[in-house]
Order: sequence, then structure tokens, then C-alpha cells
Amino acid sequence: MQSSKTWIYSLIYITLITALTHLLYTLLISNIFSVNYQLTKFKKLSDLPLRFKSDGIFKILQVADMHYGNGMTTRCRDVLETEFKYCSDLNSTRFLERMIQAERPDFVAFTGDNIFGTSTTDAAESLFEVFGPVIKSRIPWAAVLGNHDQESTMTRQELMSFISLMDYSLSQTQPSAAHSSDHSEDNPTPHVNGFGNYDLRVWGAPGSQLANSSVLNLYFLDSGDRAIVDGIRTYGWIKESQLNWLQNVSRHSKGKNHANDQPAESNLFSTYPPALAFFHIPIPEIREGPIKEMVGQYQEYAACSIVKSDVLQTFVSMGDVKAVFIGHDHTNDFCGNLDGIWFCYGGGFGYHGYGKAGWSRRARVIQVELGKGENSWMGVETIKTWKRLDDEMLNKIDEQVLWDRQTSR
Ligand SMILES: *[C@@H]1O[C@H](CO)[C@@H](O)[C@H](O)[C@H]1NC(C)=O
Ligand SMILES: *[C@@H]1O[C@H](CO)[C@@H](O)[C@H](O)[C@H]1NC(C)=O
Ligand SMILES: *[C@@H]1O[C@H](CO)[C@@H](O)[C@H](O)[C@H]1NC(C)=O
Repeated sequence: MQSSKTWIYSLIYITLITALTHLLYTLLISNIFSVNYQLTKFKKLSDLPLRFKSDGIFKILQVADMHYGNGMTTRCRDVLETEFKYCSDLNSTRFLERMIQAERPDFVAFTGDNIFGTSTTDAAESLFEVFGPVIKSRIPWAAVLGNHDQESTMTRQELMSFISLMDYSLSQTQPSAAHSSDHSEDNPTPHVNGFGNYDLRVWGAPGSQLANSSVLNLYFLDSGDRAIVDGIRTYGWIKESQLNWLQNVSRHSKGKNHANDQPAESNLFSTYPPALAFFHIPIPEIREGPIKEMVGQYQEYAACSIVKSDVLQTFVSMGDVKAVFIGHDHTNDFCGNLDGIWFCYGGGFGYHGYGKAGWSRRARVIQVELGKGENSWMGVETIKTWKRLDDEMLNKIDEQVLWDRQTSR
């Protein structure tokens, strides 16, 4: 009797263990595998290529200096005393959600200091928070790095790789080889300094003559973080290798129509596509000036590198870059013209970045509009910009035209 009872208990015991193991497996292990599988196999993307909508518009939201920390526990800086108690990184998130809702952008460009590394315990977690609202809205987006992003748990290379694997992200760690140059086996792709140099093309409106051609180029450059030059601590700068690469991209873009390899001259819209550039740290020429036709506020010293590389000169000689969008100096939000090229600050976006109490956090919008031909949309006609303040009404300020094909002829 005694032994058969033990036997039954053992059977129940073994059954129980088996059931538990099975449960554990289905709940945890298989789940982990399938999550991993999803991460590696399915990066979500919107319909590509990027293109103008059938209303002839392509609208970009620039987010400069989100400066995200750990979320709810990270306090705001430079807000009014009355605002301080109920203000955290979540206010930056809410601002981004409201901007998306108000403007319905076709693309979002993050121009660096997306996270404020020194306040960030886990870079990956914070990056998910930063880009979360855009990913949730399924809007294609891209980011470059600032000088603070790498101050947490990831190097600049790791950050860019991670960012480029996120859903709806079009960011790239290195330029795609196809556009670097006419390299061959004995002429491999030359090294381009930094992480996050790439170009994106925006195609013409659906159904138009330029539906299969890129009509707008977006250039992203890594302006680095910090450097010591001749014993002096300074900021990073855009290196010659990056400018060489960009010149190649620009030359390539002007040389032919990418969709069908036809020379640009045979296009109805015969001039080459205009371009917009995005990076973080301003160039020394902004500090030197003179800046013409300034719209917006210039409230702080442009904190650039002491090294003056050939960025402005290169852009001028390329001819396609009409406007450049930067960040870094949170309380500057102006657009100003240098040698025919517009340099526009986004104005500080994030609440954990420094700012000015009582001076609203803000974001810039860039609207690119196509010209209307006889019966279909043509190439880019106008580039406009404005900003919105994170106040109750998301007030729109400083609207201006940056470029117009008619007047630039
Ligand atoms: C931050 O968000 C809270 C909660 O919505 C809000 O009450 C507060 O006014 C916001 N603070 C600022 C400075 O926008
Ligand atoms: C663009 O490509 C699509 C698909 O290949 C084709 O149906 C359409 O006719 C092309 N449009 C032009 C203007 O080349
Ligand atoms: C740019 O093109 C030139 C000539 O085609 C080539 O020698 C050079 O290596 C290229 N540079 C980059 C950075 O792609």
C-alpha cells in the first residue's frame, strides 16, 4: 500500500514538473526567441522611396536637442519656478506628440543631442523614448548625433547602428557605397570620418513626370563631439573626407536621373534637385558673420569648433544645398544667410537641455513645395520654414521663404 501511494505521488509530482516546464517554455523561452526573431527580421518601414504627396508637398519636422535623460525622473532645466515641480522628460515627449499631430510631417529629422548622455542610465532605453512618438505614428525619420549622445552606455558607432535599426528609421551609420564614387576593386570606397553621414532622396509626386526621379536631396553629416586641437579643448567639425564624399554624392545627383539613368538635361525640369543639409554643431562662419536677412533670435555665442573646415565653401561650390539645419545652441533659433546659403537653428526642443525660463521650447518645420506644370507636378519650386512654440496653442512664428526657383534664376 505504502509503496503504491509513493508511486502515485511521484507520478503527480513528475506531471506537475513537466507541466510547469512546458508552461515556462511557452511563456518565456519561446517568447524571447520570437521577440529576438522579430527584432532581427522585421524592421518596420514605411513605403519607400520617400516622395512628395499628391498635394505637391513634402514637410519635414526638425527636432533639435531633445536632450532626453531617463524619462519621468529626469527634471526640466531652465523653466519657471512654478513649472519646475511638474516638469520632466515626459514634457519633451508630449511636445513631440503634439507637433506630430499639429503638423503631420512626412519626415522627422533629429539633429543631435537626442539624448543627454550624462543623465542617461541606458542609452538604448532612452533612444526608444526619444523616437517613440515618431515610430508610433509610422513616420519615416532620420537622426544624426550631437556632442552629448555618446556620453552614456554606447559609442557613437553603436548609437548610429542602433538608431539605423529602429522602426521607420532611414538613418545610416556609413554612407551607402553605391554613391561614394566610381570605386572598383583597386579603388575601394574611401574612409569617411564619423558615423551618420548619408544622403536620402525624395522622389516626385505620384503620377507626375518626376514620379520616378529624386527631386530633393537630404544630406546628413556627423559634426563630431569634442576634440583637443593644439592643446585647446574644442568641438568637433566636419572633416575633409566627409566633404569629399558629399561632393561626390552631389555630382552624381546632378549628373543623372537616378531612376532611369537618363542625363538630367533630358528631363522636363532640367535643373538639378536642390538639397537640404542637417547636422548638429554650427560652423565658425556663423560666428564670424556677417549673417544676412536674419529671421529669429540670436541670443548666444555660436559654440562651434576652433577648426574652420571647408563646409561653407564646399556647399557654395556644390550649388545644390539651399539650406542647412543645425542645433547645439538651444537659445538661437534664427535663419540667416551666408554666401547665399541659409543656416537655420532648430531652437532647443527638449526640457532637460538648457534653455531660458519663460522662453518656450520650440521646433522648426520645413515645407518643400513642388511647382505645378501644365497637368502634373514638377520639381521643387519653393522651400519654406517656420517654427512652433510649445505653448498652449503651439503658436506658429517666423514663417519665411528660404528659396524660390523663380527668384533664384
Ligand atoms: C509638463 O507637463 C505637465 C503635465 O502635462 C504640465 O502640467 C506642465 O505644465 C508641463 N510643463 C511645461 C513647462 O510645459
Ligand atoms: C514610374 O514607374 C512606374 C512603375 O515602374 C511606371 O508605371 C510609371 O509609368 C513610371 N512613371 C514615369 C513618369 O516614368
Ligand atoms: C570622390 O570621387 C573621387 C573621384 O571620382 C575619388 O577619387 C574619391 O575617392 C571619392 N571620395 C569619396 C569620399 O567618395
